[in-house]
Amino acid sequence: MKKVLVATEKPFSKDAVIAIGEECKKAGYELVLLEKYTDKADLLKAVKDVDALIIRSDKVTPEVIDHADNLKIVVRGGAGYDNVDLPASNAKGIVVMNTPGQNSNAVAELAFGMMLSMARNKFNPKAGTELRCKTIGIHAYGNIGRLIAEIGKGFGMEVYAYDPFVCNCKMEEDNVKPLDSAKDLYAKCQYISLHLPVNEQTKDSINYDLLNSMPKNAVLVNTARKEVVNEADLLKIMADRPDFKYISDIAPKCREELEANYADRVFFTPKKMGAQTGEANFNAGMAAIKQIIGYFEKGDTTCQVNK
Ligand code: 3PG
Repeated sequence: MKKVLVATEKPFSKDAVIAIGEECKKAGYELVLLEKYTDKADLLKAVKDVDALIIRSDKVTPEVIDHADNLKIVVRGGAGYDNVDLPASNAKGIVVMNTPGQNSNAVAELAFGMMLSMARNKFNPKAGTELRCKTIGIHAYGNIGRLIAEIGKGFGMEVYAYDPFVCNCKMEEDNVKPLDSAKDLYAKCQYISLHLPVNEQTKDSINYDLLNSMPKNAVLVNTARKEVVNEADLLKIMADRPDFKYISDIAPKCREELEANYADRVFFTPKKMGAQTGEANFNAGMAAIKQIIGYFEKGDTTCQVNK
């Protein structure tokens, strides 16, 4: 009997876990749950004899891979898989997948929730601003970027996008104006919403020059990864430009300094929560278990990221 471990420091919703269990039962697999663990040793122990692993932002390090004697597949219930060590997985022939698109709507809605809150002075009744007729630049036009475009248009925003890996024609099909460089995007848009993955190319890539080229009353919205924004440059732009605002679902290392000095111009969620809706949990969890069953029973590698 195949064993599937769901190891989630930040658990999926109860409904999602029940549904994952039902899928396992139908397939004749055993479900093992490790939720809200605080000690890495618990994960190392739990992973020992399982065939498949479902995670969220949980770190699958070389040490975890090394402890997993039977592991054949890891599915990250979510989009970004920067928390899974791919070289270590490859070395052991472990298939790694993500579940693209399954939690995108939750993230896109949170981005707008944060934008609205900041536009209304965090719900302080003094006069705020509106999103309507403002420019928004989507940096990376994937599943979340497309939803940001849709919602942005609903708010009457003027929507631009830049993504070197997506054909401009896709943006045009969505009535989004494509721009040919990050430089052009930042120079054009009052709001910038980040949707880049973190990797060697994107780490620290949102730098002072880009941020400083943004128009007056600039707002940088980060629901992607903290590492893509250069923190020294972020501190400098906040100091140099009293009109600049930063709102993020992933607190930077310099959070305390930002909050102490620029309380009115920064906002951070208490804990990363972009994908934390019942719907997103259910969709991502179900996709993960179905992908595992599809891989074992039919050899389906559609969502494999380490091919
Ligand atoms: C993702 O990459 O899908 C998001 O960052 C969600 O992360 P989470 O599953 O830890 O909420």
